[in-house]
Amino acid sequence: MAEFKKEIVTLSEFIIQRQADFNYAKGELSRILRQIAFAAKLVNREVNKAGLVDILGAVGSTNVQGETVQKLDEFANTKFIEALISGGECAGVASEENEEFIPINTDLNSNAKYVVMIDPLDGSSNIDVNVSIGTIFAVYRRVTTSGSVTEADFLQPGTKQVAAGYVIYGSSTMLVYTTGNGLNGFTLDPSIGEFCLSHPDMKTPSTGKVYSVNQGNFLHFPQGIKDYIKWCQEIDKSTKRPYSLRYIGSAVADFHRNILTGGIFLYPATTTAPKGKLRLLYECNPLAFIIEQAGGKATTGTQRILEVMPEKLHQRVPLILGSSEMVDLAVKFYKEHEEKVAQV
Ligand code: AHG
Ligand code: MN
Ligand code: MN
Repeated sequence: MAEFKKEIVTLSEFIIQRQADFNYAKGELSRILRQIAFAAKLVNREVNKAGLVDILGAVGSTNVQGETVQKLDEFANTKFIEALISGGECAGVASEENEEFIPINTDLNSNAKYVVMIDPLDGSSNIDVNVSIGTIFAVYRRVTTSGSVTEADFLQPGTKQVAAGYVIYGSSTMLVYTTGNGLNGFTLDPSIGEFCLSHPDMKTPSTGKVYSVNQGNFLHFPQGIKDYIKWCQEIDKSTKRPYSLRYIGSAVADFHRNILTGGIFLYPATTTAPKGKLRLLYECNPLAFIIEQAGGKATTGTQRILEVMPEKLHQRVPLILGSSEMVDLAVKFYKEHEEKVAQV
């Protein structure tokens, strides 16, 4: 027989192959993931022509097709929510773009068992400057058993996530997700419009040479974080220091690079933002679940991110995440200083 190359595994095929991983084998979660992937393709299409907005018409005006031009983050929000509604398995969505959670009460969704939390467009300040942006999502099983979802369905600790993932709209577009059985990455082949398995069973190195932090805020950081950053900058051959500072300002893009190369990402509390900047439910928790699946760690500095009990939908938490050895050391610096202060 002639030799044939190994077949390409598309995301849809992969989801079917891994159905058994999902415990909830009725295909409900699979459908949610497929709906998210579908909306991601729509967003990808818009991201690719974002530079044309000025030519086609400014935000709020009408483009050549007679459609109103939307801000990309509003567009992404709408597309993800519409996709989740039409999939029928999602009972409610909490989004960065909406003050309140959105219950989905259509006939189609009346038996839906899942809720989704989403940052539809992460890194929005980078849209206009042609720098990578992303989408982050987390899926939970709802805790209420019937009727409309309530806030309790959304205020669950990250340990309860049944799936989480991100999409990066970069030099190529990728969707990376986990259901708690490892982490897999898929690259969009634009010629066939399919996400294809390109990064099976992703693992992050236990250490790396990259630290990612908005160093412009240095003077506002807790002393222990300052000490750790200074340590990253010191010259020491044996530990390959100084490390390189890499900071894109789109959490997804910084995260994606660090997961592949090894590294640490920090968004600590600052004197001006005492809880940090990033949101627990749709930024920190999904990224924490993902990094743990890749062998890394995520913490507030004092507590594992996934164990933080959420109190509010748009709650912020300080975040340190990445390669396990690097996170451990940053936490050591942080705690040492906090303990010194406590003793005074
Ligand atoms: P979003 O665009 O969803 O509001 O998120 C922006 C976040 C995150 O992507 C990034 O890591 C961080 O804000 C950057 O903040 P600074 O500009 O303060 O560094
Ligand atoms: Mn974000
Ligand atoms: Mn956002």
